[in-house]
Amino acid sequence: MTFKKKLCLGIINFCVLMTGCTGSKKSAADSSSLKDLYKSDFLIGTAMNVEQIEEKEPKAAALIPAEFNAITAENIMKCEVIHPGWDRYNFDLADKFVAYGKRKNMFIIGHNLIWHSQLAPFVSEIQSSDSFMLFMTNHINAVAGRYAGKVNGWDVVNEALNEDGSMRNSIFLEKLGEDYVTKAFELAAKAAPNTELYYNDYNIEQPQKRAGAIRLIKKIQAAGVRIDGVGIQGHWSINKLPLEDLEKSIKEFAKLGLKVMITELDVTVLPNPWDLKGADVNQNFEGDSAMNPYPSNISDSADTKLALYYESLFKLFLKYTDNISRVTFWGVNDGQSWLNNWPIKNRTNYPLLFDKNFNKKSAYEKVAALK
Ligand code: G3I
Repeated sequence: MTFKKKLCLGIINFCVLMTGCTGSKKSAADSSSLKDLYKSDFLIGTAMNVEQIEEKEPKAAALIPAEFNAITAENIMKCEVIHPGWDRYNFDLADKFVAYGKRKNMFIIGHNLIWHSQLAPFVSEIQSSDSFMLFMTNHINAVAGRYAGKVNGWDVVNEALNEDGSMRNSIFLEKLGEDYVTKAFELAAKAAPNTELYYNDYNIEQPQKRAGAIRLIKKIQAAGVRIDGVGIQGHWSINKLPLEDLEKSIKEFAKLGLKVMITELDVTVLPNPWDLKGADVNQNFEGDSAMNPYPSNISDSADTKLALYYESLFKLFLKYTDNISRVTFWGVNDGQSWLNNWPIKNRTNYPLLFDKNFNKKSAYEKVAALK
């Protein structure tokens, strides 16, 4: 680990420790928490939903600051929530999220500034390219500007690429052309000069999409615009552990001078429609018990497989502590994961390290035991 990284993690952990000292004494459970075990390696983060931000669930309210030292807003900073009308902004929940992170001395990630999905309905009605550029400029200035110096990192552009590495055909591409990505980073760098700026996407550990991400990042850098990191989302499946691709990606992204982050980690244990030979993805699988094999409890064998999967992942992450600055889980516990409702609604998935009752799973124990 580089001296600079050790110093940064040291400062963050010192702040976190001081917060603990001003409150009640640390419990035994705290001293073996993931954030403590991994304190000299990388930050351990979680995405937070509204209930958690508002500390409405006592178990979550206790567990989040005990186990995690970084937080990402799962939904409430997305355009449809934070910028619902051309000149209307709704910062209530985002303000609460940021205040929560400050109070708990956590590393705060804003998710996200520019994404084709979850846009407010007014955005699709914008006609001219000039007006669209004005929308993007206003959005970044207002949102990144409001939290400048408060949010530590922004996912500036999210999911701009197709699986083959080409640019996704989004409304941003259509109205502004390929350079919208660079422009978004330029605007974010001006609005939030001391905030880390990231490109965030899923499957960018895969060779073609990774090559596309590298092209995109090099373009931003060639324009002299700041980009600090790249987020490999990490929405993976128990049936496919992409270790080799992941290792190559960590090395290649690091070569660009960027921090590498795993930003939305979860591992589905359920079958996916597109994995079934001959299945029609548009077929309605809701209520199909074959697609929901563990409605009450995960089987021992799947639980063990998941634990070994997470162990392999974290072994790899520990090889690259110089390059990886953060590993964030996409949610706190299995019960709240988006994977219970995607790609099929109303299933029971087990993708995280805590079960629906906030108990540590075998996967947690494996990850903790590596330290
Ligand atoms: O808030 C409404 C609620 O009022 C309404 O009653 C309910 C009915 O469906 O919907 C609620 O909104 C849902 C929202 O999550 C908040 O729970 C949306 O339907 C649902 O589509 C939305 O899903 C989110 C998804 O992004 C949207 O694309 C997931 O929670 C969130 O985990 C997921 O996160 C994304 C990252 O931002 C980007 N990378 C992929 C990742 C997983 O899709």
